[in-house]
Amino acid sequence: MTDVHQVTNFYQTNRQYWRELSAFQSEQCSYMLNFGFWPNGIVSLGDAQIEFIKLVKEKIGHPLTEKNSHGLEIGCGIGGVSIYLLKTNPALSMTGLDIVQSQLNIAETNATLAGVGDRFQAQQGSSMALPLTDAVFDFSVCIESSFHYEDKLKFFQEVFRVTKPGGVAVIADITCTDLNALRFKDSHFFESPAAYIGFAEKAGFDVLSQEDIGVSVFPQLYQHILNYNHTQARTREAKYWSLIANNYKTMSQQEKIGYHVFAFKKQ
Ligand SMILES: C[S@@+](CC[C@H](N)C(=O)[O-])C[C@H]1O[C@@H](n2cnc3c(N)ncnc32)[C@H](O)[C@@H]1O
Repeated sequence: MTDVHQVTNFYQTNRQYWRELSAFQSEQCSYMLNFGFWPNGIVSLGDAQIEFIKLVKEKIGHPLTEKNSHGLEIGCGIGGVSIYLLKTNPALSMTGLDIVQSQLNIAETNATLAGVGDRFQAQQGSSMALPLTDAVFDFSVCIESSFHYEDKLKFFQEVFRVTKPGGVAVIADITCTDLNALRFKDSHFFESPAAYIGFAEKAGFDVLSQEDIGVSVFPQLYQHILNYNHTQARTREAKYWSLIANNYKTMSQQEKIGYHVFAFKKQ
C-alpha cells in the first residue's frame, strides 16, 4: 500500500520545482504536476499540460458534457487538471481525491482563485480504497498518479465500483516494459501497457482506446528541463529531474518506456 509519508515528502520536496517549471516560458502556471503532451510547436511545459488535458477531454467524450455531469479526479495533486476541466465545462462538478492532505489544501485554494471553488470538492483518501459511494461518477480521470499504486487491480476495482453504468475512466501514465533500465524506483510501481489492460478488464471494464504518446513527451520534457535548469542555481531537485528525464528519454528511444492514455468504459 502507498507509503503516505514517503509520497507526502516527495511532493513537498518537488512541487515548487514543478510549479516553476510549468510556468517557465509560459503565460501562466497550470497548477498541473504532469509531463504534458508536446506535439510539434509546443515549447513550454505549461502549454504541453494544456495540450495533454485537451487530449484527455477527447478520450472522456460525452460523459464530460452531459447535463450535471459529475467527475472524479484520482490523485488530483494541486488541482490543475480538475480546474481546467471545470473552467472549460461550466455545468461540470468535480471531486478531487488525493492521499496527501497538503496537496488537497493547495488544490482547494487554487480552485477558489480560479473561480471554480464552488464546483470542486476535495476528498482525502487512497485510490485503492476510495472513501466514496458506489456508481456516482459519470467519468473519472487519473493522470500520472497510478505509477504510485502498488495494487493496481484493487485501484481498477475501486474505480469500477464508483463509476455509473455507461461511465468512462481515463487513466494516463508512464508504462514500462523493462524495470531494470529504470534509474529511480522509489515509490514507483510501473507496469506494462498489457498489464494495465489486464487489470482493467479483470475489474470489469471494456477497453475503449489506448494511445502511446511517449515520443511526444520524453525528449521534449528532457530538453525543457535542461533549458530551465540553465537559468537556475543547481539545486538537488534540478539535478534529480534532469537525471530522471534523461533516463526516460533514453528508455523511450529504446522502446522500454511509454506514456499511455487509456480510456475504459463500464457497460
Ligand atoms: C504526479 S502528481 C499528478 C497530479 C495531477 N493528476 C496532475 O496531473 O497535475 C500524482 C499525485 O498522486 C497522488 N497520489 C499518490 N499515491 C496516491 C494514492 N495511493 N491515492 C491517491 N492519490 C495518490 C500524489 O499525492 C500526487 O498528488
